Amino acid sequence: MTSLLALCVALFAVAVRAQTVQVDGNKVVEVLTRLANLSDHENPAVTRILFTPNDMLARNFVKDLMREHHMTIREDAMGNIFGRWEGSDASAGSVLTGSHCDAIPLAGMYDGTLGVIGAIEAVAALQRAGFKPSRPIEVLFFTSEEPTRFGLSCSGSRAMAGALTAEALESKLDSQGRHFLQVANEVGYGAASTSDMLAATRLKEGQVDYFVELHIEQGPLLEREGLDIGVVTAIAAPAALEVTFHGDGGHAGGQLMPDRNDAGLAGAELALAVERHVLASGSVDTVGTTGTFEIAPGAINSVPRDARLAIDIRDIDGPRRDRVVAAVLASAKEIAERRKVRYTSRVINQDPPASSHEDIVSAVAASAEALGLSTKRMVSRAYHDSLFMARVAPMGMIFIPCKNGWSHRPDEFSKPQDIANGVSVLALTMARLSGGSWPRTEL
Ligand SMILES: *[C@@H]1O[C@H](CO)[C@@H](O)[C@H](O)[C@H]1NC(C)=O
Ligand SMILES: [Zn+2]
Repeated sequence: MTSLLALCVALFAVAVRAQTVQVDGNKVVEVLTRLANLSDHENPAVTRILFTPNDMLARNFVKDLMREHHMTIREDAMGNIFGRWEGSDASAGSVLTGSHCDAIPLAGMYDGTLGVIGAIEAVAALQRAGFKPSRPIEVLFFTSEEPTRFGLSCSGSRAMAGALTAEALESKLDSQGRHFLQVANEVGYGAASTSDMLAATRLKEGQVDYFVELHIEQGPLLEREGLDIGVVTAIAAPAALEVTFHGDGGHAGGQLMPDRNDAGLAGAELALAVERHVLASGSVDTVGTTGTFEIAPGAINSVPRDARLAIDIRDIDGPRRDRVVAAVLASAKEIAERRKVRYTSRVINQDPPASSHEDIVSAVAASAEALGLSTKRMVSRAYHDSLFMARVAPMGMIFIPCKNGWSHRPDEFSKPQDIANGVSVLALTMARLSGGSWPRTEL
């Protein structure tokens, strides 16, 4: 009786143990370190800009790694790279995971890269564990998440989601005055025209069943609260506005106060109005920043003639954010009228925020729990390719802690153990979403 019970316990234990993966965080760091070496600045700083020689080397590095793990490689017209691990149901939509390897000037070695290198390692870990996917599993290297070269963030994922027009892309030039298409053609991507390129990049209906991205938090909460895994429930999206005020200027001594129309003071009032409207939303998730405030001519003895403000307003609730945007624009008009200055305003972009899909949120949470890891449901305040992927597939994200929440700087850092945790959670999440089978274990 006792031995039968022991046998049942042993069987159960073996079956449970089979549904897990072994990930060596130090090995992932070693691969990330080799990738970091492909940089325009000396490490630890990493600078890797779209379609430059180091970006092309990074692409080859990632493709070699995908091949090593038996993935079939496909590249689209924008240079998004897919590594596919075929499933038993080859006609099903894939479980897609990935992130970016481009890095803004003087950035670090984990932002984005973890979601590509970590995803390949997650596939390798599933392969080692003998898992057989049902839905295919694909690892994706996104083209140009960072806006460095063309002033457009997430260009690959926008195009995949059909959220980028040829007109919008053609209006962007790099610092040498060249178009995306020209540069893409030179490095072996592209098409005959921008619209052909975008049409070829757009994902087809049914191609992707789930999208999940592993990323460092880029915020301090997980580390501060001593938690292992962030289960992302929504991604905030920014609206960017530019407002300019124009007055008549004048001499700081000669121009009497009642006769002035000071553009600088109109701008100052607007910056305060941004804060007031944001706080009036009543939610901590609404944030607004006047990050640029330039006045001209900019002399101590001159009444400001021009003021230009760039304003960033973010929220996870689209309509609530848009109400703040509308209130800020109304304030600009009211301030201009009252202060008798002319004004112009422009909405530079206003991407909608996205919510994670409950299937992925629960798969991530269950995977973390199976590994004995602590979790926190949280909002991503930075935005990612996932924001656009949410338009074409159920989306979710997995965060791991990073030191002091630092990112986009050379001392960006995540511990090997946290990396191993994130990769393991990604592996088990993909296994759940793929719906494949684990090996039978023998005693
Ligand atoms: C890459 O590694 C080599 C060999 O260690 C080193 O000389 C070079 O400076 C590194 N490159 C960067 C960008 O850090
Ligand atoms: Zn990133």
